[in-house]
Amino acid sequence: MTIKMVADHAVWPKANDAIFGLAAKAKDAIAKYGKENVIDSTLGALVDDDGNLICMDTVYNELKSLPNADIAAYAQVAGQPDYLKAVQDACFKEYKPNAHIRAVATPGGTGSIRHAIWNYTNPGDSILVCDWFWAPYVTISEEFGRTVTNYKLFNEKGEFNIDSYKENFEALLNKQKRLVTVINTPANNPTGYSLSDEEWEQVLDIAKDNAKDKENKIIIVVDVAYIDYAGVGSERRKFFSKFSNLPENIFVIVGYSMSKGFTMYGMRSGAAIGISSNEDLAEEFYYSCMHANRANWSNGTRAAMSIMTNIYNDPSKLKAYENEVNKYKDMLRKRANAFVKGSKDVDLEILPYRDGFFVSIPCENAKKASDELIKEKIFVVALKKGLRFAVCAVSEEKCAVAPAAIKKVLDNLK
Ligand SMILES: Cc1ncc(COP(=O)(O)O)c(C=O)c1O
Repeated sequence: MTIKMVADHAVWPKANDAIFGLAAKAKDAIAKYGKENVIDSTLGALVDDDGNLICMDTVYNELKSLPNADIAAYAQVAGQPDYLKAVQDACFKEYKPNAHIRAVATPGGTGSIRHAIWNYTNPGDSILVCDWFWAPYVTISEEFGRTVTNYKLFNEKGEFNIDSYKENFEALLNKQKRLVTVINTPANNPTGYSLSDEEWEQVLDIAKDNAKDKENKIIIVVDVAYIDYAGVGSERRKFFSKFSNLPENIFVIVGYSMSKGFTMYGMRSGAAIGISSNEDLAEEFYYSCMHANRANWSNGTRAAMSIMTNIYNDPSKLKAYENEVNKYKDMLRKRANAFVKGSKDVDLEILPYRDGFFVSIPCENAKKASDELIKEKIFVVALKKGLRFAVCAVSEEKCAVAPAAIKKVLDNLK
């Protein structure tokens, strides 16, 4: 047996991140065949029609105008107080719940998911996540000795599968008496699905019903990483107001990320925002997350916080920033429409798309399909249950033609 120096709990398979690996292959293909001949739909980042990463001017002009000391200095452990206010405005807009709310800065949305899972589950607990999910939910849970249980995201009608949600929710809650359920909406990664307000109502009814047993502790984590690209205006934020006056044994944590909305993926900023009808529980959340910050990364990226604060505290900067986001939101919408139409034209089955960076194609043997597509110079991420096409990274023109090529490959695999 080979010697292991790493402690038992920290031994993991020698695997590199599959998405970053595929992205590197796509880059090689672009260098070899030219960008016009390759469709690189791998990374979840906004890319312009020429294949360049989009970096918002309003964001980077602000960064470059910051005094060096505002970039270099440590931030406070919980985050700069003015940022913690601004991030709530950015997240909720006009739909701030009537509740006790506390925010703690985290490095990206990932940090907030990490805190929610670590701070609100017991060893061995299972976290409830839908079957089309962002893989790091599992990575984070595994790291902490937790597991993930999946419910079916869609029913036969292509709507949120409330029956599967309820069945799994109640089974886990009855067993654990505490449950963290992560709902990635609006603009779910990888499907682009957004729960309707009626579907949110049903989710909350199940929680409220189960909250009648005061022993139950229900934690709803809403991962809104893509919210800035969802719906028209702030229509996809309406559900936030439903978090007003909930029973005190339902605690909501919103995982907010600056990565996509500010094109600041590598600058690592976001927030965990806790919502409760009980002020003590909101305070408990704040100090629990602050401790976790100190223990893990000490404090967040100060310059990123200042960018948001400065933009949100200056109406003209905010207007310019919103105009810029909306420009990219329109671009995304046009690309997604082209992909959805292209799929319809060739009868390619896709999952219901509403908003955001990705569209998913359900299929058997997605890995094989992805490998075959590489031969056609199309780079699409293979998931357990299908393929993820990143409309955020592909021009409208290519989004229109990709479905036919994908359909052909899938038909040949049958
Ligand atoms: C579903 C989902 N949640 C959260 C995140 C958080 O990302 P970050 O930590 O970069 O803000 C991402 C980013 O890819 C995501 O896709």
